[in-house]
Amino acid sequence: MRPLLDLLLFLATLLYSYLEALVKLFVPVRRKSVSGELVLVTGAGHGVGRATALEFAKRRSRLVLWDINKHGLEDTAEQCQELGATVQTFVVDCSKREEIYGAAEKVKKELGDVSILVNNAGVITTADLLSTQDHQIQRMFEVNILAHMWTTRAFLPAMMDNNHGHVVTVASAAGHFVTPYMVAYCSSKFAAVGFHKALTDELAVLGKDGIKTTCLCPVFINTGFVKNPRTRLGKILEIEEVVEALMEGILTNQKMVFVPSAQRVALLFERLFPERALNFLKKLTDVEFDAVIGQRSTQ
Ligand SMILES: NC(=O)c1ccc[n+]([C@@H]2O[C@H](COP(=O)([O-])OP(=O)(O)OC[C@H]3O[C@@H](n4cnc5c(N)ncnc54)[C@H](O)[C@@H]3O)[C@@H](O)[C@H]2O)c1
Repeated sequence: MRPLLDLLLFLATLLYSYLEALVKLFVPVRRKSVSGELVLVTGAGHGVGRATALEFAKRRSRLVLWDINKHGLEDTAEQCQELGATVQTFVVDCSKREEIYGAAEKVKKELGDVSILVNNAGVITTADLLSTQDHQIQRMFEVNILAHMWTTRAFLPAMMDNNHGHVVTVASAAGHFVTPYMVAYCSSKFAAVGFHKALTDELAVLGKDGIKTTCLCPVFINTGFVKNPRTRLGKILEIEEVVEALMEGILTNQKMVFVPSAQRVALLFERLFPERALNFLKKLTDVEFDAVIGQRSTQ
């Protein structure tokens, strides 16, 4: 009797979810206000991090900007201030746990509780696995995923106490799909996607429904992060369209933001199609970028 009841309940839940999604297509989505929120953006000195900081500045958030690059950070701060935002900058190397914890303590003491945390700082080395040096692999893991653990562990307690906050993970399409000459980077971004999903699940189980999570997964963006990317999949993204999608995702509490959104279909294909057919499709996409190949490192 029990399995039958469970099956009926599952089918009812499934139907309800689809109906809810259908209704939401026609009802305008409510966007939350981020005015007055204390927003911390890592890697705010350039690219996606800078553009995200500017979007929060336009929406009257109070900003805490972290980056390893002092000049980039100062430029971003200046642009945010021109928009009327209050901004504090901290030169932080996100590959170093103690530096993160030290800066987090300073932020809490001097400015208060961070309520929106944007883990954006990232690094990449494009090379085949044997040409990638040990320290490069280590750094990709330190910045692209371990830093997310340290910043979240530093700022989540206050969010938990207030049952209010938002943790944003800037991952990548490389956190869902693999690419040659990015073995360590893809691994670190798969970890970032996993971190986001596991944290989301844990917060739900703990009943912290006031703490939202968003994960951003874009393909190549025109920031210079990857050198000379080209693909037959479509154009290289501009920063503005990525950050527009990210902000929409944050303001409407979307859990996963794919740019472009067609990646969802590709994910479905990956689960449905046989390997040979997938390899054929992969060849058609013809993804290329500058990479070191065949120079085996000795350390
Ligand atoms: N550009 C792309 O093609 C692309 C695609 C998908 C995902 N992403 C992700 O988007 C995020 C931002 O990338 P971007 O394209 O804006 O790159 P970017 O190089 O333009 O900006 C990255 C910023 O992070 C900072 N940073 C690097 N190492 C740091 C460290 N140890 N501590 C503190 N700050 C550090 C840099 O100084 C820089 O200001 C990254 O996580 C990246 O993996 C980028």
